[in-house]
Amino acid sequence: MIRLENVSKTYNRGIRALNNVSLTIDSGEFVYVIGTTGSGKSTFIKLLYREIKPTTGIVEVVGLDVAKIPNRKVPYFRRNIGVVFQDFRLLPTKTVFENVAYALEVIDTPRHEIRKQVRQTLDLVGLGEKINAFPHELSGGQQQRVAIARAIVNNPKLLIADEPTGNLDPDTSVEIIELLEKINQSGTTVLVVTHDREVVQSNKKRTIVIDNGYIDSDTSTGGYGI
Ligand SMILES: Nc1ncnc2c1ncn2[C@@H]1O[C@H](COP(=O)(O)OP(=O)(O)O)[C@@H](O)[C@H]1O
Ligand SMILES: [Mg+2]
Repeated sequence: MIRLENVSKTYNRGIRALNNVSLTIDSGEFVYVIGTTGSGKSTFIKLLYREIKPTTGIVEVVGLDVAKIPNRKVPYFRRNIGVVFQDFRLLPTKTVFENVAYALEVIDTPRHEIRKQVRQTLDLVGLGEKINAFPHELSGGQQQRVAIARAIVNNPKLLIADEPTGNLDPDTSVEIIELLEKINQSGTTVLVVTHDREVVQSNKKRTIVIDNGYIDSDTSTGGYGI
C-alpha cells in the first residue's frame, strides 16, 4: 500500500524534515506514527497524498510513484486517500450532510447515490441524527466524526489522520480511535499520527516513532522506542 525508499525532504531554507526514511506499510494495516512536535510526522504523511514531493527517494502509494503523477491526475490519485486533520476543517456554512456529500459531488456521483452513501456513512460514524446540523452545533468529537465520514464516504483504500485527537478530551479521543479501528476492520488501511502516547500504549498496534526526521523505531521491525 505504501513504500518509502530512502526518502528525504528538505524544505526551503535548508530545514531537513525527513532523513533517508525507508519503510513499507501493507494493505489493511493500522499504524501509529508518533514523535514530538517538529519531528517530521506531518511531512511524512504530506508526502503520501502528494501535498509535497520528496527531495530525494521514492514514495509509492497504491502502486504509484507519487512524485511522478502529473498534476492533472493528482485529484484522481487522491480519491484513494481520505485525510483527517486535528482542526476538522469542515465548511462552517454547510450542514453535516453537505459537508460529507461534497466529497461525492466533486466526483459526479448521482444524487440518489449521494444521499444513500452519506446516510450510510453518517450511521457508521454514529452521527445519523445530526445530518441537518451545522458544524457549530456539534461538539468537537462530533465534528471530528463528520470529518471522518467525509474522508471515507467514497471508500478510500487509505485513511490518514494527522493528530485527529489533538483538540479532544481523553474520553472523546478514545472514541475517535475506536472509530478509526472499526474503519480499519472493514479493510481500510489506517495511519494515525499522534503525540498522545496514552492512546498508542492502550492500543497495541504497529508504532513508527519519528525523531528529528529519522525513524527511531518501528515495532513491526522489533524496536519499541517509547
Ligand atoms: N513548509 C515548510 N517550510 C519550511 N519548514 C517546514 C515546513 N513544514 C515543516 N517544516 C519544518 O520541518 C520540520 C518537521 O515539521 P512537521 O513535519 O510539520 O513536524 P510534525 O508534524 O512532527 O510536528 C520542522 O522543523 C518544521 O518547522
Ligand atoms: Mg504535524
